[in-house]
Amino acid sequence: MLLSFPGVALITGAASGIGRGIAIAFAKDGCRKIAICDFNAEGLDETRALVKDTAPDAEVLQVPVDLRKESDVEQMIETTVRTFGRLDYAVNSAGVEGDNLGSAESTSDVFDHVNSVNYRGCWLCSKYQIAQMRIQEPLPSHDGRPGNRGAIVNIASQLALVSRPEAAAYCASKAAVVSFTKSDAIDYSGDNIRINCVCPGLTRTPMLERQMDIYRTAIMRAPLKRPGTIQEIADVVLFLCSSRATFVQGAAYVVDGGYTII
Ligand SMILES: NC(=O)c1ccc[n+]([C@@H]2O[C@H](COP(=O)([O-])OP(=O)(O)OC[C@H]3O[C@@H](n4cnc5c(N)ncnc54)[C@H](O)[C@@H]3O)[C@@H](O)[C@H]2O)c1
Repeated sequence: MLLSFPGVALITGAASGIGRGIAIAFAKDGCRKIAICDFNAEGLDETRALVKDTAPDAEVLQVPVDLRKESDVEQMIETTVRTFGRLDYAVNSAGVEGDNLGSAESTSDVFDHVNSVNYRGCWLCSKYQIAQMRIQEPLPSHDGRPGNRGAIVNIASQLALVSRPEAAAYCASKAAVVSFTKSDAIDYSGDNIRINCVCPGLTRTPMLERQMDIYRTAIMRAPLKRPGTIQEIADVVLFLCSSRATFVQGAAYVVDGGYTII
């Protein structure tokens, strides 16, 4: 039987790159209630159009949100639940790159910016997503497998597991995502909520294009010798959200063409 998503999906960072691809992938795989969240309103319009091209009958809610602001994040969840009644699959993909300088050359402003989105912003999203999921009934799955109260997938990075030169704040912000994902998975297993993260390798998105000069050599170091596609990341994210993954908890799924094995 195919994957299917009878519940409500919410994706942050949905105006671009991996987040946008995940929104489209949910629509392709049968999800019909999709909240797309980002602070780039124009990008959200484009994502909405792409989701509707994929599944004209999908209901798409656009939520403008700056994840650095707790009140925005709280409202993002409130608006989604007011519109769709619940929240079943939450994917936290919003993220920013750093300034590609060593710690001694970089500034505390850059450190704060990277961490306020990648670590604190992701954690804030999880906080309010968990709070909603724990008060709702488990959603029966489409295939008779046990239902969950919800599934959260945080997007970390291969750079959570290995480091690269001149990206201390970025690498540490992603290591923090892996770490709090595991803690949350422990704390909310009893509520029947599954919480995992995905560690993408270099993936062809606007973020990678902006830094292609820095990453060209790294792409060739991975055994598969190419960047990943957005679809390849979305495939694993959707698996983790699906009823096929009911025993997967607190995992950091590496999807990196083998970059971290050598
Ligand atoms: N592309 C890669 O090679 C790669 C590799 C590993 C991990 N990642 C991670 O994957 C995630 C998605 O990256 P991408 O490549 O799709 O990047 P992207 O730049 O294409 O998309 C990131 C999105 O996050 C949004 N965003 C940034 N700050 C925000 C804020 N404060 N509030 C709301 N939205 C905000 C942006 O507007 C954008 O739409 C990020 O967390 C990134 O760190 C990417």
